[in-house]
Amino acid sequence: MRVLGLAGSPRRNGNTDKLLAEVLRGASNSGAEVETIVLSELQIAPCENCDSCFEAGICKIDDDMQDVYKELMLADRIVLASPLHFMGLTAQTKVMVDRCQSLWSKKYKLHIPPLGDEKIRKGMFVSVGGQRFPNLFQPAIATVKALFISLDIEYAGEVVFSGIDKAGNISLEPGALGKAYLAGQKLTES
Ligand SMILES: Cc1cc2nc3c(=O)[nH]c(=O)nc-3n(C[C@H](O)[C@H](O)[C@H](O)COP(=O)(O)O)c2cc1C
Repeated sequence: MRVLGLAGSPRRNGNTDKLLAEVLRGASNSGAEVETIVLSELQIAPCENCDSCFEAGICKIDDDMQDVYKELMLADRIVLASPLHFMGLTAQTKVMVDRCQSLWSKKYKLHIPPLGDEKIRKGMFVSVGGQRFPNLFQPAIATVKALFISLDIEYAGEVVFSGIDKAGNISLEPGALGKAYLAGQKLTES
């Protein structure tokens, strides 16, 4: 089983990076092959809404997103990790999400599997936010669910923590890293 982690924070080794690392460690210790893509290190241009992907499901923009498409296709499990930025996903994450329009096109315009085959894929959302109030993560979760539905990825839940602002503070949150580790183990169960 191959587990792909998409690290969406621009802050390296910050809170979501730490949670993602634990999820992937849990998956790896359960026998999964894990791979991490750091979105802030890639050059990904925004979707231009040119609709050229409606013809063959292929995005005409030749940048690092082409490698992300390949990794998504190889993956059995996807862990999307992004802190909240203005209630939503980070810019680095959202630009990647929007470029999945070509995969949306495969599913809804061309009626072919968006990720090339019909194997069961599951996905999880990992996030933190500095604020603390009920339903803090709902807008971001809605975006993640919209992405996963378009890519035929079953939503396998989220690992989210509110009130976490300073870099590294997730390590001080009782039980947080352990919860992430267990979620990674569970994600690999068939
Ligand atoms: C541009 C920006 C916008 C943010 N917007 C929110 C927000 O809307 N809600 C919230 O709870 N936290 C917000 N935060 C705080 C981050 O989610 C928080 O600092 C988080 O711990 C960062 O995680 P990281 O270390 O993985 O980057 C924002 C931070 C930045 C830099």
